[in-house]
Amino acid sequence: MADKRCRICGGILREVLDLGRQPVSNAFVRLEDAPKVPFFRLAIGRCDSCAMVQQLETVPPNEMYRADYPYRASGSLMIRRHFEGVAREIVETRPGGEGGFVVEIGSNDGVMLKTLAAAGVRHLGVDPAASADDVAREHGVNVRTDFFNAETAADVYAEYGHANLIFSANTFSHISYLDSIFRGIDTLLAADGLFVFEDRSLADILRHNYFDQIYDEHIYFFSVVSVKAMAAHFGFELVDVEHLPLHGGSIRYTVARKGVREPSAAVAEFVAQEEADGLLGSDVFVRFAADIDRVKADLVSLLRDLQADGRRVVGYGATSRSATVLNYCGIGPDLLPMVCDSTAEKQGCVTPGSMIPVCPTADFSNPYPDYALLFAWNHAEEIMAKEQSFQDAGGKWIVYVPKVHIA
Ligand code: TYD
Ligand code: ZN
Repeated sequence: MADKRCRICGGILREVLDLGRQPVSNAFVRLEDAPKVPFFRLAIGRCDSCAMVQQLETVPPNEMYRADYPYRASGSLMIRRHFEGVAREIVETRPGGEGGFVVEIGSNDGVMLKTLAAAGVRHLGVDPAASADDVAREHGVNVRTDFFNAETAADVYAEYGHANLIFSANTFSHISYLDSIFRGIDTLLAADGLFVFEDRSLADILRHNYFDQIYDEHIYFFSVVSVKAMAAHFGFELVDVEHLPLHGGSIRYTVARKGVREPSAAVAEFVAQEEADGLLGSDVFVRFAADIDRVKADLVSLLRDLQADGRRVVGYGATSRSATVLNYCGIGPDLLPMVCDSTAEKQGCVTPGSMIPVCPTADFSNPYPDYALLFAWNHAEEIMAKEQSFQDAGGKWIVYVPKVHIA
């Protein structure tokens, strides 16, 4: 078989982890449509040349992001607060001054841009998910329902002129054709403009065994080392990095045109830390694979033991990540009869591949189960506080990362 090539630089990809056959992670469909959900091989490799860790297969975007794509960023208070903070900072610093123009790639339901809209900042969100865009428009956000790429960027430039800031959060890792994106950014970004993007951090995924961050939509697993190389490859420069607590550990990358800004000391510090963490070696992935197998064995045996004891267990949070856990561990409705989730679009559907019914969170207390398996572990604090009466009633939370434990 021909070598797989890096999507960024064309270097050779070496496989570092294989999680087997997996369904499209956001394919929450009615039970009768479940057999139509597409499957693919979920495996990642690292580029020999630029160190970018990435999927070995490519799922066609139209399989993953249908018009009814159910993800809503505003579903979490923590996420909402984070993006309101990002937006407030933009409103205060006004990139480009009074007439400055801000573009968000992957604006989802407008969670960030609505604050800019309310403050009268010239802006545009670009997002292919039509139903999320409608929600954003209801909040007064200016949206173009489209994939961002070199062509749409040229269109946006023709209509609005240069962007002083291009922002994107948790979207960049979802896009395979980053060359086209960077060409688009090159067309659209003002000479002194900044491109800022946030995404999950590979170092945190490896450190905390967050293997469920690996699913179809996450094509890239960024590190500072690989983003620095990627920015340079496309003629830009990584000028700043900042760690964020979101999604179990994320990094905000600030990219500028080459030579426009002196890179901050943080860039070199993060690179040194990643090298010290062994991110460029292979041992770290061997250990990762062993830790993942331990979670699988422990979780399945815990669920079986609880079932044998007559305990009722349900899932909490029908996350995209849960697809990897459920399918990798082979957990179905026999071991976990339902997963509760606050997203209306997922309720009444079944989880992809594992076919577990998704129910409204109101069903969680009706009656409370003995145990709840928390898939939305990144929202643990918020959810446990919201469901305090579950614990008061003697209920217990099962968390599976970094290893299976009762929280
Ligand atoms: P999310 O963190 O967006 O993860 P992923 O990117 O893996 O999909 O998913 C959180 C899910 O949990 C989402 O479907 C909404 C649900 N949820 C609740 O049901 N209740 C809550 O209080 C919160 C915060 C989330
Ligand atoms: Zn590469």
